[in-house]
Amino acid sequence: MAGVFLQWIFRLLMVLVISQSVCVMFYYIHDTHSSRDAMTEALQKLRCAKLRRKFTVLKPAKRIDMKSFAQELSDFLNCPYKPNTTEQDINRIRLQFCCNATGSFILTQRNTAINQSIQYETSNTETYKINAALHSMLPEDFPWSGRRLGRCAVVGSGGILKNSSCGHEIDNADFVIRFNLATVNDSDVGLKTDLITINPSQLRYKNLQKNPDPLVERVSVYGNASLIIPAFAYTFCTSASIKALKVLQPIRPQQPVVFFSPSYLRTLDRFWKGRGLRVVRLSTGFLLISTALELCEHVHVYGFWPFGTDLQEQPIPYHYYDLSRPNTHMHKMPEEFVRLLQLHSQGALTLHLQPCSSPEADRGNNL
Ligand SMILES: *[C@@H]1O[C@H](CO)[C@@H](O)[C@H](O)[C@H]1NC(C)=O
Ligand SMILES: *[C@@H]1O[C@H](CO)[C@@H](O)[C@H](O)[C@H]1NC(C)=O
Ligand SMILES: *[C@@H]1O[C@H](CO)[C@@H](O)[C@H](O)[C@H]1NC(C)=O
Ligand SMILES: *[C@@H]1O[C@H](CO)[C@@H](O)[C@H](O)[C@H]1NC(C)=O
Ligand SMILES: *[C@@H]1O[C@H](CO)[C@@H](O)[C@H](O)[C@H]1NC(C)=O
Ligand SMILES: *[C@@H]1O[C@H](CO)[C@@H](O)[C@H](O)[C@H]1NC(C)=O
Repeated sequence: MAGVFLQWIFRLLMVLVISQSVCVMFYYIHDTHSSRDAMTEALQKLRCAKLRRKFTVLKPAKRIDMKSFAQELSDFLNCPYKPNTTEQDINRIRLQFCCNATGSFILTQRNTAINQSIQYETSNTETYKINAALHSMLPEDFPWSGRRLGRCAVVGSGGILKNSSCGHEIDNADFVIRFNLATVNDSDVGLKTDLITINPSQLRYKNLQKNPDPLVERVSVYGNASLIIPAFAYTFCTSASIKALKVLQPIRPQQPVVFFSPSYLRTLDRFWKGRGLRVVRLSTGFLLISTALELCEHVHVYGFWPFGTDLQEQPIPYHYYDLSRPNTHMHKMPEEFVRLLQLHSQGALTLHLQPCSSPEADRGNNL
């Protein structure tokens, strides 16, 4: 009997001890909850700073481990992000002094004289004489001077934009730049267009003068956007470009056709090569991002992603609008993309590589 009683007392004591220690444990957890949060936050900050340093000094590579690269990049993109206005000003001033988009981005009546011989972008010997008729069709002056362009979206054609829901965010920009008459789409890439490039190879229409309708239809999708053509990149670009200008100017006067100034493209090319970019010829995308860095308050870059899988390692098409295959960039880290990542890490521009959030959620992020 006494044994049973003692056993009972012992059990009671055990229960008390255990519950006491549980209380102590709860007390302990409760007490350090906030300091633990602070610790997690500090560790997170440290990791973000480390990733930022890493992407700022990233080097182009022949071969990359896509899995760890995608993981680190997506961690980095989830870190809090702040543009650096000092860095933006430095880039703007450097580009103004080297290349001066305001004065020489496109050929105008102001920067080009009648009978002036224009040197082709890719040749030291070939020139083209601007006669009075062509001169009279050039814009009088740079159409976007006198004001900074505000928040610009430069929209590349990367398959990463498919299903991105970025259309709303892109359409909210003050100025939208697109490429190669790419399709527009309210859900993923947006509809607003202020400047769009045309590749001379896209101007191969039969009898354009007699039957301009197919070209007119194709460009009217972009409303009043200016159409920019590299008419003086190679000699074979010129006649199709001038024909398009002649045909479109009377039919769609609200939609200016303009020509890249080849000397601007050459100085920009020299600028980036002087900063260690090792490419044969800069892509039109990279050129126009540079133009935007000079002319805009803040540059948002969409659809620039040269890999065959996204950040979640899901396969994606090369372009968002067709089924063309990714080229050799698939497992290399291309020079231009590395440079964009650096500019993003420095706060000079914002690179968008993830799906966009809902309109409500991104309202606070509009820069
Ligand atoms: C912004 O950029 C400038 C110039 O590179 C640098 O000195 C400064 O530390 C940067 N600011 C921040 C908050 O990173
Ligand atoms: C750029 O060109 C414009 C127009 O010709 C000129 O007014 C301006 O002074 C130039 N800016 C620089 C930095 O050279
Ligand atoms: C341009 O050249 C043509 C013929 O070569 C000449 O008739 C014309 O006067 C020149 N125009 C100017 C403004 O120099
Ligand atoms: C627009 O985007 C949606 C969703 O990604 C897609 O189903 C549709 O085909 C796209 N349309 C065009 C014209 O690209
Ligand atoms: C396009 O230009 C026309 C003629 O200048 C103008 O009436 C119209 O409002 C413009 N549309 C937009 C969307 O700016
Ligand atoms: C986009 O969404 C459609 C429909 O949900 C899906 O079939 C397609 O695979 C997606 N494409 C990409 C590239 O994510």
